[in-house]
Amino acid sequence: MKVVAGSASVALGRGLGKALGAPFVETAYEKHPGGFPDGERYVRVLGDVAGDDVVLVQTTHPDPKIIELLLLVDAVRDLKPKRISLVIPYFGYGRQDQRFEQGEALSARVLANHLQMGVDEVFTMGLHNPEVVKFFDVPAREVSGMPAVGRYLKDRDIDFVLAPDDGAVRHVKEVAETAGKPWDALQKTRLDSYTVKFEPKRLDVRGKRVAIVDDVISTGGTVALAAKELKAQGARHVLAAAVHGLFTANAWDKLAVCDEVAASDTIPSRATKFSVAPEFAAAIRTTR
Ligand code: R5P
Repeated sequence: MKVVAGSASVALGRGLGKALGAPFVETAYEKHPGGFPDGERYVRVLGDVAGDDVVLVQTTHPDPKIIELLLLVDAVRDLKPKRISLVIPYFGYGRQDQRFEQGEALSARVLANHLQMGVDEVFTMGLHNPEVVKFFDVPAREVSGMPAVGRYLKDRDIDFVLAPDDGAVRHVKEVAETAGKPWDALQKTRLDSYTVKFEPKRLDVRGKRVAIVDDVISTGGTVALAAKELKAQGARHVLAAAVHGLFTANAWDKLAVCDEVAASDTIPSRATKFSVAPEFAAAIRTTR
């Protein structure tokens, strides 16, 4: 087995190689220093994968990484591997999983249709809707990243693990189990796409160190409001942790209310503090 990674997932690809005991094959992402003048992507796989079982890793965010992945599948395929397992750590466009209004594109299905061409199986993580795996015709599986969050929190000085809303309860239960910490939940009401409000709720967080856990931090609105609420109720320390850290728009300004922010390596950022490589490695092993 060998691991090849796109430029969105180099660190995770290396970690996955170590976890699987598989060599990491280097890839060039630029033909000339600084890239093409028109900004077009380029890839060249710098090793031999003929006859190999190849694990190809690339997050599909932001958009240029999607093009890069399409190029990588072609490049790897041309080197005649035995099999390609595609790992999409963060499935960009996965949230548009239905046509909410007439005339819209079904983005998640479009991506699935195109990304699966030339690969034998797909692994992804933390989907907004687990049903999205059904858009793939090749075997596709969603892997949970919550045990990785739990491992990160296990040795931290944290009293509670907290879900910012009911939707995050199943995630927090999984994290709490791995971390060996108690859990609770706040109640959130979403007013519109940009605004969420927390109903006042009596939580015994006074003087406590609390970890808010969600599947994804996007605009930061959800965890920032939860953190504000916890601080108002007397929490001493608030850590926000998620599998995927997108940090769009002015997310970091909003998140200033948190004492710490941690996310996995599915989307590399300044918040990346733990890896989901063990989760993907375990999932890949089960199909061998
Ligand atoms: C909601 O369904 C998700 O679990 C997250 O709570 C949400 O996507 C986070 O988004 P934001 O950071 O923009 O509040």
